[in-house]
Amino acid sequence: MRTELLAPPTYLKGFETLEEEVTLDSLPLEGELPAWLSGSLLRTGPAKFEVGEHSYRHWFDGLTMLHRFSFGDGAVSYGNRYYRGNTWKKGQETGAIPYPEFATDPCRSVFKRVSTMFSPEFGDNANINVVRLGERFLSMTEAPISVQFDPQTLESAGVSFKPPGMITTAHPHLNRATKGMLNFAVKVGARNEYRFFHLGPDSDQPEVTAKIKVKKPGYVHSFGLTERFIVFAEFPWVVNPIEIPLSGRPYAENYKWEPERGTRFFLVDRETGKAADPITTDPFFAFHHLNAYENDDGTIVADIQTYPDPSVVEQLYLDNVRGGIDLTPSEIRRFTIDPAAGTVEHEVMIDTPFELGRINYGRCNERRYRYAWGVAATPGNWIDRIVRADLEERSHTEWHESGRYPGEPVFVAEPGGTEEDDGVLLSVVLDGERETSFLLVLDAHDLSEVARCEVPHHIPFGFHGLYSSTV
Ligand code: CO
Repeated sequence: MRTELLAPPTYLKGFETLEEEVTLDSLPLEGELPAWLSGSLLRTGPAKFEVGEHSYRHWFDGLTMLHRFSFGDGAVSYGNRYYRGNTWKKGQETGAIPYPEFATDPCRSVFKRVSTMFSPEFGDNANINVVRLGERFLSMTEAPISVQFDPQTLESAGVSFKPPGMITTAHPHLNRATKGMLNFAVKVGARNEYRFFHLGPDSDQPEVTAKIKVKKPGYVHSFGLTERFIVFAEFPWVVNPIEIPLSGRPYAENYKWEPERGTRFFLVDRETGKAADPITTDPFFAFHHLNAYENDDGTIVADIQTYPDPSVVEQLYLDNVRGGIDLTPSEIRRFTIDPAAGTVEHEVMIDTPFELGRINYGRCNERRYRYAWGVAATPGNWIDRIVRADLEERSHTEWHESGRYPGEPVFVAEPGGTEEDDGVLLSVVLDGERETSFLLVLDAHDLSEVARCEVPHHIPFGFHGLYSSTV
């Protein structure tokens, strides 16, 4: 069912292809940047939705563009560039979609499908998240190829590593002790298993640290981390992987919602790699864990941005978002897992939708924390608000301007700051009326505007990025 559009659909520009690639030494700036802000915001996202005569079908499928906003001496420079890997090159050469994406299949025969079943080909359209690993900057997706790029020029630098499985996440965690990455992959075959792995800061050889056998793997976009455990939530949106190449349907359309299974929480001991039996709770779906930590009484807290079911995936097909928005709102739920009692309880933390949440990661990941910053949509509209959540007071404040559509607010901690929320937020915002985008800098304490700088074109809606003070 669709709700009436409450606002003119000025967000539509955010789902249009951007052809321009530019390098600009300085962007027009309103306001004054903090003197300490010296570094770069690096973001990835889909920016081209057609190849030749063919169109990608889902927001998650578009061709990867990287964006860089660099700050120094109170000014901002900007660059954007398509990731010119195999997916890009083959598409340009053939005029056809070359590799399977999340919800779009390449143009190929059934025979070809079957023949590639046990040696699947993956593209390198890594448009979900930017991750730093040692000195490498990676653009990541859920296909098992992570690519590298030059953080200054945004030029493609090839495949960085391959995870130990066919499906992985673009949301690894930092291992504080090694400065390496913790992530997970689904190994598919005669037997399927979840594999958790560590990748050292200078390594291209993932080391599997834990395995869990599974018949039908769930779709998992991220996971939580405490000092002792990996908190792994398996939602009942599951797949029999062997059916994927034979079904004639794109990857995502092979997943089935089986709510009777419930959601299973696995706690994987980071030291031993052992996982106790999972603890089952009510069915729900999520893309993003927000944070997790351990209480003194041995219970584990996992904050997750949840949906009642995966219907949001359906809502994000390009035909659907272009035809009018009816997004199921997500909410921050706090799950308290008691491993001794085998129970999970949950509560809703704030009275607003909340997605694409960020925290003061360096200070608070794996630990007790108070603040998160994310985005929300007014019912019947695209994402049009930035939300600051106070999870101690259980309250929130918002930034909103009519006809403006903000993306993920990346928190940048002020060097030497003493409070958890000492810093700024960086969010790429589409101005739906002018059909251009700007970078918005907000004070993370109260969402008051610090500065904004305008880009000469629109930036298609993206997913995630990071801030690095060293590039
Ligand atoms: Co994500």
